[in-house]
Amino acid sequence: MLSADDVRAAAQRLHGQVLDTPCLPSRTLSAICGCEVFLKFENHQFTASFKERGAFNKISLLSDEERARGVLAVSAGNHAQGVAYHAQRLGIPATIVMPRFAPSVKVERTRGFGATVVLHGDSFDDARTHGLALAAERGLTLVHPYDDPAVAAGQGTIGLEMLAQQPTIDTLLVAVGGGGLISGVATGARSIRPDIQVIGVQTERFPAVWNAVHGQSRPSAQATIADGIGVKLPGAQLLPLIHERVDDMLLVGEDDIEQAMVMLLEIEKTVVEGAGAVGLAALLKYRERFAGRRVGLILCGGNIEPLVLAEIIQRGMVKSGRLVRLRIDVRDVPGALAEVAARLGQLGANIDEVQHQRAFSSLSVERAQIEVVVQTRGVAHVEQILAAMRADGFQAERIA
Ligand SMILES: Cc1ncc(COP(=O)(O)O)c(C=O)c1O
Repeated sequence: MLSADDVRAAAQRLHGQVLDTPCLPSRTLSAICGCEVFLKFENHQFTASFKERGAFNKISLLSDEERARGVLAVSAGNHAQGVAYHAQRLGIPATIVMPRFAPSVKVERTRGFGATVVLHGDSFDDARTHGLALAAERGLTLVHPYDDPAVAAGQGTIGLEMLAQQPTIDTLLVAVGGGGLISGVATGARSIRPDIQVIGVQTERFPAVWNAVHGQSRPSAQATIADGIGVKLPGAQLLPLIHERVDDMLLVGEDDIEQAMVMLLEIEKTVVEGAGAVGLAALLKYRERFAGRRVGLILCGGNIEPLVLAEIIQRGMVKSGRLVRLRIDVRDVPGALAEVAARLGQLGANIDEVQHQRAFSSLSVERAQIEVVVQTRGVAHVEQILAAMRADGFQAERIA
């Protein structure tokens, strides 16, 4: 079973090999959440996730002969890059097996670290079966993404670092996929502060470890915005550790995750992927439970496609009322559109899109309908805008 000594030994091996990322208090998030919040910026690692820690620790434990033969990992995500990057640094050949549909940017990034990428199968399970066979056939060492004590020990170095950097932390909220990160972190952190609360967070769409801890059997979905923790099969070696060393498991929804991603971007100016935001999502969702505590959150990854991020930002703006669609009925006379635009401008609403329609409107023929998407300062501002437009005689309402 993974011990604190294993995590401490991993920390010595990792010294100077991965970033000792900052762990900083967040004044604004603390005020919002009603507790003291500390953020560990693992999204600053070179490959933008903590996965380098476990990968490096595992690889550095290999014999010369194993190094010469090479390593293999099955992953289309952060683990692939962590293994490929450190294998390249250490001059070890790396083979990464991904499903055929893996996004080309991930394939290219992994190839960029000198790894041989093998695309196989339509599903992750197909890729895994092929990867295991390939490793056995070629004598390559498998670097499992989580179910390996050496990998979990590497991830656990985050727990040691956080408590060295911020010794007052009394609670850790940790994203859980297969369970390697939380097993290691709980082991490391408890060795310094035995009474620390370690709480795992999963998405409602992939609740495998939550199920195991709560004796439930909720089904898994197909996909989640937190793809890094979209895991159906937790580590068999890790579950006993999680039962022993983790205090509780919480679930968050997709909306909670998106909201937390946007807050981290706006407040902390930091980009996290879905899995990197679940800790904050849980803190916001279960606020009362953490009131007054000193909570450490691990921003465990920052790999997200820019277009997906752009969509999440826009949806966040809509949810907070800072991007709204208004429908305004006007008399169908020359200058009506200009009048509406001018009034919106005076009210501080910045127009993003305009649609002016007659034919598709259900209004009488002498009227026209204008739909505008406007940027505002938030819900209260939207109410002010609508009230002012109505006072001016326009029929105005917020839609969708
Ligand atoms: C960003 C991110 N967060 C969390 C996890 C979960 O780690 P584990 O599978 O060790 O629980 C992963 C795993 O890939 C990840 O990429």
